[in-house]
Amino acid sequence: MAPPPPGMLDPNLSGFHPMKGPMVTQSLRGLTNTGVLHWRGDRADLTAFNGAFVSLMGRATQLPDSEMVAFSDFVMPLAYPPNPYQNLDRTFPDAPVGQPSAERGRQFFMNTAVDGPLRCVDCHALPTGTNGQVIDKAALLAPQDMKVPQLRNLYKKTGFKDTIGVVNKRGFGYTHDGSVDNLFDFLQFPGFNFGTNPDAKRRDLERFLLSFDTGMAPAVGYQLTFNGANNADPTLSARMDTLESQAALGTCDLIAKGRVGTTPRGWLFQNGAWRSDLSSEAPISRAQMIALAASGHELTVTGVPSGSGTRCALDRDRDGFMDADELAAGTDPADPSSHPVTAVTPTGGAAPLGLRAIYPNPFRAAATVDFTLAHGGPASLTVFDMQGRRVRGLLRGVPLAAGPHTIEWDGRGDEGRTVAAGAYFVRLEAAGQDWRQRIVRVR
Ligand code: HEC
Repeated sequence: MAPPPPGMLDPNLSGFHPMKGPMVTQSLRGLTNTGVLHWRGDRADLTAFNGAFVSLMGRATQLPDSEMVAFSDFVMPLAYPPNPYQNLDRTFPDAPVGQPSAERGRQFFMNTAVDGPLRCVDCHALPTGTNGQVIDKAALLAPQDMKVPQLRNLYKKTGFKDTIGVVNKRGFGYTHDGSVDNLFDFLQFPGFNFGTNPDAKRRDLERFLLSFDTGMAPAVGYQLTFNGANNADPTLSARMDTLESQAALGTCDLIAKGRVGTTPRGWLFQNGAWRSDLSSEAPISRAQMIALAASGHELTVTGVPSGSGTRCALDRDRDGFMDADELAAGTDPADPSSHPVTAVTPTGGAAPLGLRAIYPNPFRAAATVDFTLAHGGPASLTVFDMQGRRVRGLLRGVPLAAGPHTIEWDGRGDEGRTVAAGAYFVRLEAAGQDWRQRIVRVR
């Protein structure tokens, strides 16, 4: 037996029996902020699964801590896609009484005491659907204690039937052992008291659970294409209103892609206007942007995950040079080591050579690195972690002129993920010399 995890509020927990029995495979997505892991909550965090590399995967030894931390850093940010049953503006579909309504189900979930004094939301706390607590087996009418599970993937688990003789082709079944074939049946749990019209409330609640917010707004991945003929279409215009207001709320970034003349172009919705990928251009209004759309010059608007808009619309290789500027300069917008040479601003007097300043430091979203070269020639600017592992190549032997230069680091590693909070150092190499400076990223 292993003891219950620390920090649990339920006084009647038994701890974990080694013969846990069959459990439905859980997802590696959406683990952040869901507390202890596994159906029973018997793993403190992802690194506690290291034993499985030996016992399940057949390795001779466990992963070294550094690799397990890297694995965890990779898995923890994995996210669910948007829930297809929500409205585009992230609200829940409603319906008249007599038909199931996700919105009425949401109100019930949030407001009605159904398990003694407890509402669903008291255990299934938002936004993930779990408060991270383990509940004792007597309260669950179950053979062992279980953690309150997150509710973000319920809509993916439909389709299983436990009728005698049925052939199941898909579906998982609900609860830890997958024994319940649908959510309506799950809500027959005798611990729940639904009061009057219980089945109507169960149908509403089932709709809500199937539209449960996954953490990713429904606007993400949504696309509209303007082609000249439909530029003034009122339906598209209303959808644009919704998409722009979602972006303004920060639930997604909103980008547009099209062509001006023969040049592929991108726009990002920022502060109520559309900024293009040509740095000399002022932001334009929605009407001005849509007016660019014509047959053969279609313009497609796409909701993208928050934080990825700049990469998707303006600077795809994140080298700090906007895509259309790169096309104009004849460099490759998809290759961070190919970009225009940074402008040299004349210095008054003898500026110190090498790395001059990194600011802000500590930084949260992006940091600016200022440096000066005594002679023109290839320069490399690299970010390392404190173990000396290379995190991001900002410049890789790029030929630069003598004088001051400025490069922005967007806090991401080479594979595009935002780096963990902590200390890093930036190293500048040029003309056989090198300079280092410490930089700290905070959350
Ligand atoms: C006392 C805390 C508590 C309350 C209150 C509670 N639940 Fe749960 N819920 C749990 C636990 C613990 C489990 C895991 C049970 C298991 O797997 O055997 C669970 C499982 C579930 C599941 C199955 C999840 C899956 O992935 O299979 C759903 C759906 C669910 N609850 C919805 C609700 C709804 C809707 C309400 C309100 C009517 C509610 N719960 C009230 C603790 C609670």
